Amino acid sequence: MVDNTQGPKHVAIIMDGNGRWAQAQGKPRLFGHHAGAKRVKEIVRACPDHGVKYLTIFGFSTENWKRTQSEVAGLMSLFRTYIRAEMKALIREGVRVRFIGDRVRLDRKLAALMDELEAETVHNETTHLTIALNYGGRDEVARAVKEMALDVAAGNLDPDTVDETTLTRYLDTRLLPDPDLVIRTSGEARISNFLLWQSAYSEYEFIDTLWPDFTSDVFASCIERYAVRDRRFGAVKA
Ligand code: IPE
Ligand code: IPE
Ligand code: MG
Repeated sequence: MVDNTQGPKHVAIIMDGNGRWAQAQGKPRLFGHHAGAKRVKEIVRACPDHGVKYLTIFGFSTENWKRTQSEVAGLMSLFRTYIRAEMKALIREGVRVRFIGDRVRLDRKLAALMDELEAETVHNETTHLTIALNYGGRDEVARAVKEMALDVAAGNLDPDTVDETTLTRYLDTRLLPDPDLVIRTSGEARISNFLLWQSAYSEYEFIDTLWPDFTSDVFASCIERYAVRDRRFGAVKA
């Protein structure tokens, strides 16, 4: 049993609704993505106030390549701009940044900036911010299984010993606890391939707010509701 009255230690967010937010104002979708990036800053800063040690955010999915070339290029450029603009503040504020997802398909300039931000913040420990870029839960499991198979073939892993913990060690999230709370904004009630393995027992909040309107007050209200939930993990309450 988990004492969730203390609040969630790890919150994961599917930041959805940027496009609709922009379109409602007659603006291009990228305008919404820029507004969404501003909210990320606010929410990262709010984490320590709520005892949230780990924040994981979904920035770009393995399925988002299906969007128009101009939206994809705009998003990639926004990720580069965000990393450049925020690097100093993240270092100063004690945020440790990690990226999950498959980097192979990302452009080299972006991948280099991701490496740099991870290296520059490696000693920070106030908040662990994980950004999912070109991330898909199924892709992550498939890559993990491939690595595991290579270790078996090389004689470094005995297949008889493989269990849930073994697979967990091969995932991109190997250094993170499972999320306690997963929030999805924009009114869609689906997980869109996010943290499939890790969220097996997470609490979910599907809220109507569009991501660019997700203020630290909305975040606080999600955390308040989490504290009164009854997490049983399959057991019967004593
Ligand atoms: C979420 O907002 C951001 C990304 C997926 C990159 P969307 O771009 O999905 O916005 P909607 O869902 O179309 O409104
Ligand atoms: C999920 O949002 C991915 C991110 C937030 C990065 P989508 O907008 O891509 O999900 P679908 O298409 O509505 O399932
Ligand atoms: Mg969407």
